Amino acid sequence: MAVILGIESSCDETSAAICIDGTVVSNIITSQSIHAAYGGVVPELASRVHQQNIIPAVQQAILTAKVTKNDIDAVSFTRGPGLLGALLVGVSFAKAFALARNLPLIEVNHMQAHIIANFIEEPKPKFPFLCLTVSGGHTQIVLVKDYFHFEIIGQTLDDAAGEAMDKTSRILGLPYPGGPLIDKYARLGNSNAYHFPEPQIPGFDFSFSGLKTAFLYFVRDRMAADPGFLKNNLPDICASIEKRIATILMNKLKKAAQQYQIKEIALAGGVSANTGLRNLLQQTADENGWKAYIPAFQYCTDNAAMIAATGYYKFLKQDFVGQQTAPLARMQF
Ligand code: KG4
Ligand code: ZN
Repeated sequence: MAVILGIESSCDETSAAICIDGTVVSNIITSQSIHAAYGGVVPELASRVHQQNIIPAVQQAILTAKVTKNDIDAVSFTRGPGLLGALLVGVSFAKAFALARNLPLIEVNHMQAHIIANFIEEPKPKFPFLCLTVSGGHTQIVLVKDYFHFEIIGQTLDDAAGEAMDKTSRILGLPYPGGPLIDKYARLGNSNAYHFPEPQIPGFDFSFSGLKTAFLYFVRDRMAADPGFLKNNLPDICASIEKRIATILMNKLKKAAQQYQIKEIALAGGVSANTGLRNLLQQTADENGWKAYIPAFQYCTDNAAMIAATGYYKFLKQDFVGQQTAPLARMQF
C-alpha cells in the first residue's frame, strides 16, 4: 500500500491531500479571501497566509483520510511553476516533514498535475490524448503520451485564459477572482448579445491581449453613451465574453484534434471549472465523435489531490528527489 501526502501552495490556495494507492481520500483546500480587496493575488500576502494555513491543512488532510503520520510513505509537493514565496512555504514544509520522518520526497510540476487530475476519478482518458490546460497563468494544448511524457503543441503568446477572465471581470468592476463571477452571471444572460473579435493566430497558439483591449474599449464606449449600461446588461456581457473565450479555446482544440487525429480530449486547470467551457467541450465532442474528459470541480482549480495523485505515479517508478533540489525558479514544464 502506498500512502502519499500531497502539498500545493503555488498561488493562493493552501492545500493538502492524502492519496492511497492512487485513490484520493482527502483533499483540504484553504482559499485566501484576503486578495479580493486588491484585485489580484498579492505574492507577499499569499506567502504569509500559506504559513498560517499549511500545518492545519495537513493535519486536517491526515484526519479526514483516517490515517496517521506513521502511515505516510512519501511526500509530494508542487515544485513550480508558481509564486516563489508561496512555493517556498510548501516546499520547505514538505522537506522538513520528509526529513523528520525519513520519507522519500517527490517533486511535481503544477501544470502536469492539473492534467493528471483527469485520472483521479473514472472515466479516465486513454493515451495518447490532447489536454487543453487553462489556468490563471497558463493556456496550453498538450499532447499527453503517458503519465510522464507531455508535449506542448500550442500555448498563449501573452495572457492566459484565466487572466482574460479575471481582467475582463475587473473591467466590469467585479472582485478577484473574476472567472467564477463571469460564470455565475453568464448563466443568466444571452451569449449572442454582443460580439467580440477572435484573434487570428497561426498554428495552435493563443492570444488574449487583443480581446482584453477590445473589451475595454467596448465597455468604455457603451458607458459613455449610457452610464447605466453595465448595471443593466451584466449577464449578457458576461455570457458574451465567456462564449468568446470558450470558442477561441475550442476552435484551436478542434484544429489540433484534427491534425493529430486524436479523439480523446481532456480539460484541466482552473478555467475548466467554467460552465460555458465545459458545455462547449461536451457539445464539440458530440459533434466530432470525441470522448471528452473533465475533472470534477474540486480537482479543476488548485488542489493538493492532483499533487498527491501525480506523486503516486512517480512513487511507483521511485522517482524521488533528494533534500537538495535545484533552485525553484529553474522549473520547466
Ligand atoms: O488553476 P488555477 O486554480 O490556478 C492557477 O494555476 O493559475 O486557475 C485559476 C484561474 C483564475 O483565473 C480563475 O478566475 C479561473 O481559474 N476560474 C474560472 C472559474 N473558476 C476558476 N474561470 C471561469 N469560470 C470559472 N468557474
Ligand atoms: Zn493551477
